[in-house]
Amino acid sequence: MTPNPAAPLLLFDSGVGGLSVLGKVRALLPQAPVMYVSDNAGLPYGTKTEAQIAARVSGLLGRLTERFRPRLVCIACNTASTIALASVREVLEVPIVGTVPAIKPAAAMTQTGVIGLLGTEATIRQGYVDRLEAEFAAGKRLLRHGAPELVAAAEAKLRGQPVDAAVFARAAAALRAMPDGERIDTVVLACTHFPLLEAELAQAFGPGVRFVDGSDGIARRIAFLTAGQAWERSPQGDLALFTNDDPADALLGPALARYGLTQRLVF
Ligand code: DGL
Repeated sequence: MTPNPAAPLLLFDSGVGGLSVLGKVRALLPQAPVMYVSDNAGLPYGTKTEAQIAARVSGLLGRLTERFRPRLVCIACNTASTIALASVREVLEVPIVGTVPAIKPAAAMTQTGVIGLLGTEATIRQGYVDRLEAEFAAGKRLLRHGAPELVAAAEAKLRGQPVDAAVFARAAAALRAMPDGERIDTVVLACTHFPLLEAELAQAFGPGVRFVDGSDGIARRIAFLTAGQAWERSPQGDLALFTNDDPADALLGPALARYGLTQRLVF
């Protein structure tokens, strides 16, 4: 079925993390109307249980797709994808693109055979990650660290608030302290908030470490699934939708505008 040209791509995250994916989508599909959804009433997902995350994500995406009729949904959040992607796909008719930790490209990049993975606490314990490790990183060493304070750091950075550099040093030190951690040369940023902090993390890890995340692959997948479709963006700019009406989120205005999100709605 040919979608309405104004039907948006819906990008969903618990907060600002999905903007790291949106940046790549904009570069490939500059004409695409986008609705960016931040479930900031549910943030952070990473410290919640699997049942809480699955219920919240399926419920919200059900209501959002019914109301806004997107042509495609991108779950731009590793935590939500690794837990709820399969069940959301079962209930929604619209095409859904998920986010999975970039273990496959990391395994191809590493020279030392030791890969670090930074994600949320919920993501790093998923069987989904075990399966990616077994399939793509057999024979390598994958060291995982859950870093909830990096989620808060990305939220603060995009609001123009100061972030203590010790947060980045702690994340690097936690991976380095694991057996073989000193040999890490590749770090998977397995939370969409973390590419927003890549410069700070690069500083903390020091030279000789490369970072990889899934955003390029997601953007390519969205372009593939929408190839040949007509696009019509609103002259008013695209919409950022929040689930929590927090006046402090006005601080996000300039960051959202950089991604073309100039309208705001509380859902
Ligand atoms: N951005 C999310 C992810 O990719 C998680 C952040 C959170 O803890 O809510 O995993």
